[in-house]
Amino acid sequence: MIEALFPLARPILHGLDAETAHDLTLRGLSLLPPRSPAPDDSALAVELFGRRFPNPVGLAAGFDKGARVADALLGLGFGFVEVGGVVPLPQPGNPRPRVFRLTRDRAVINRFGLNSEGLDAVADRLKARAGRPGIVGVNIGANKESTDRLADYVACTARLAPHAAFLTVNVSSPNTPGLRDLQGEAFLDDLLARVIAARDASGARPAVLLKIAPDISLDGLDAMTSTALRRGIDGLVVSNTTIARPASLTETALAGETGGLSGRPLFTASTGLLAETFLRVGDRIPLIGVGGIDSAETAWTKLRAGARLLQLYSALVYEGPGLVGTIKRGLVDRLRAEGLSSLAPVVGRDAADIARGG
Ligand SMILES: Cc1cc2nc3c(=O)[nH]c(=O)nc-3n(C[C@H](O)[C@H](O)[C@H](O)COP(=O)(O)O)c2cc1C
Repeated sequence: MIEALFPLARPILHGLDAETAHDLTLRGLSLLPPRSPAPDDSALAVELFGRRFPNPVGLAAGFDKGARVADALLGLGFGFVEVGGVVPLPQPGNPRPRVFRLTRDRAVINRFGLNSEGLDAVADRLKARAGRPGIVGVNIGANKESTDRLADYVACTARLAPHAAFLTVNVSSPNTPGLRDLQGEAFLDDLLARVIAARDASGARPAVLLKIAPDISLDGLDAMTSTALRRGIDGLVVSNTTIARPASLTETALAGETGGLSGRPLFTASTGLLAETFLRVGDRIPLIGVGGIDSAETAWTKLRAGARLLQLYSALVYEGPGLVGTIKRGLVDRLRAEGLSSLAPVVGRDAADIARGG
């Protein structure tokens, strides 16, 4: 239903400032009557983190920062939803405007700066949906003004572990000064050790995932994957937004805005990094592929590059919620065409080619 309305709503939403349009979208979703998604083709199911994902198409972090509409989003047919980023104390983020649509490029630039209602608000909302079906994870970060950022991740982990299927450690947002420095090997080792200890002490067992930036070097990736393996991370999310500005961008007036670029122009870099990550970790650490997915074709390529699960955000701005069904149908068609009954044999089968730029 809401899928059919999007072509009508899009010109109105796109006539508004991007953040206002997003707030309206969230309000609209919060008003939807509860609905269960149509059952997915069993060939799309993915068994991971001790759970059965009904399909691999997830919503990426940043869309529902306050965990206000997780059930409505699951109702749109996503196989899982990542809410957040959340930080311990409420913080306003950067001044507006802080998100921009690069329409011709099918891209977004944002510099929200982890605006968050804070841990208490998000934990309470997740607690209130306890027992409802659907897989919901939380993206966690550190307050901008924090004097002990590691302690912020630990606080988020301890508080959210009982209410989340997975926790994604976000050290890759480009919009909090110094946050990406936590990707350095010594910091990261300490951070992951402490987050995992906090998870284990909580008595709950959400998967702990690490989300990485597409702007790291291959040496940086070597260090990060070996730290993740050593610390027993449950999954890697590849990738966050990029600070790079590919030469292909045509919206040159907006391309100069500070912030993280996402959407179609991120696809090649994030998929290349995904393939490089797969070549390093193989099936020892499951990967979530994110960055520029806007079709069944791009989703399929992420799987071939090594993703077990997928996430998207920016393409929803341009294609609307019907995209979720389009991708799922397209994946089923491809499986049928190859005579496969599950996605597993596709995962990583072309990682070497894709890493070489193929
Ligand atoms: C407006 C906006 C806000 C975002 N906020 C977060 C966030 O809080 N934490 C995070 O890890 N990623 C955040 N992201 C990154 C997305 O989760 C995703 O990694 C990135 O957008 C690439 O996927 P896409 O090309 O499908 O949008 C945000 C992205 C956008 C566009």
